[in-house]
Amino acid sequence: MLTVKDLQDLHGKKVYVRVDFNVPHKGEVISDDNRIRAAIPTIADLLKKGARVILMSHLGKVDWKKLKKGEKTQEDIDGQMKKNDLSIAVSPLKAHLEAALGHEVNVSFSKENRGEGLAKAVAALKDGDVLLAQNTRYLPGEEKNDPELSKEWASLVDVFVMDAFGSAHRAHASTYGVPECLKAEGKPVACGYLVQNEVEKLMRCVEVKDEDRPYVAILGGLKVTDKIQVIDTLLKKCDYIIIGGAMSYTFKKAQGEEIGSSFLDEGALDYAKKCLEEAHGRIILPVDAVVTDSFEPVEGRLIKVIEGNIPEGVEGVDIGPKSAKKFAEIIAKAKMVFWNGPMGVFEQAEFQEGTKAVCEAIRDLSGKAFTVCGGGDSASAVKQFGYKADFSHVSTGGGASLEMIQNDGHLPGVDILK
Ligand code: 3PG
Repeated sequence: MLTVKDLQDLHGKKVYVRVDFNVPHKGEVISDDNRIRAAIPTIADLLKKGARVILMSHLGKVDWKKLKKGEKTQEDIDGQMKKNDLSIAVSPLKAHLEAALGHEVNVSFSKENRGEGLAKAVAALKDGDVLLAQNTRYLPGEEKNDPELSKEWASLVDVFVMDAFGSAHRAHASTYGVPECLKAEGKPVACGYLVQNEVEKLMRCVEVKDEDRPYVAILGGLKVTDKIQVIDTLLKKCDYIIIGGAMSYTFKKAQGEEIGSSFLDEGALDYAKKCLEEAHGRIILPVDAVVTDSFEPVEGRLIKVIEGNIPEGVEGVDIGPKSAKKFAEIIAKAKMVFWNGPMGVFEQAEFQEGTKAVCEAIRDLSGKAFTVCGGGDSASAVKQFGYKADFSHVSTGGGASLEMIQNDGHLPGVDILK
């Protein structure tokens, strides 16, 4: 696989760089631009080599069903996006990009991301310039990996660089179709520094060496249906799987406990039972929970710690202190840790303790074990609580890091570069 380092003189060359600027934001306000900063080494290197850089990213998800039928032009789509308050225009990212690049770079924004508008914006670029194009997901062909869209994008450029690790598990037009077209034409496709580093670090969690045992995986978070299937694979690779957060209630229910109104993934109950049977005690579940009668922070709501069955009318929102202690004891023995998903609703101060306890247990392994935080909400928590430097690696991709483990190191957006 070529890396961006292998690309030599790029003067006069147009380089399509797929970045993952899917940053946390409310409307136009971006709360964390880490993903933009993480792509700078690749962009800066390309600019140093004289390239004309075209940055493509998605932001958020487009609910196409919400968009009125018959709305076809870019303006119509823009208007509809605004009306539905999807707030996913990438234009507010430009200022963050300029600040991260250091202001001397000429950065332009194209609200068109295909057709004449985009072609003109690309043609206007000079060596060392950057063009940020509108959200790739404004185009329905993006997520369908539409060959026409891929062909059109590929026809505008000479080189493709993949630096969107967070999107490498998606075989979309911008992550898969474009490099596929360019490869067919014998043009260079390469991975950026961010993707290269992520793949190197995460491969250690995929191809496990004896010296990295005990290997402990910690799973949590709300995206239960997305994540639960990785447990099968993790059972084959890990010595222990700690399950906390929203995911744990499905497992508690599967082993016959009452979970009150806690989050339940009904469809995964049989799978959870099967995992518990196959694990022979290697799946570690919470023994107590912080419960509440209101997820909303209303005054006078009930918050207490419960051991065992959770009664009707309350829901689990964090692991309790006994679980935190139990989890920390297992983490303390690990030589390698992979963590994906918080232990509770850490966005609310009352329910942060479980997630903080996991951060602290991993901090105590500093210098003694290889520790990875697999992106998404757990990465936000690690950063928010100030533990980022204590990890060997904090991934920029939540879904991507999990899928990489699940698929034995394979991701479509990386495999296509080979
Ligand atoms: C992420 O935030 O995990 C990536 O940007 C991928 O986003 P997606 O789940 O909307 O494809």
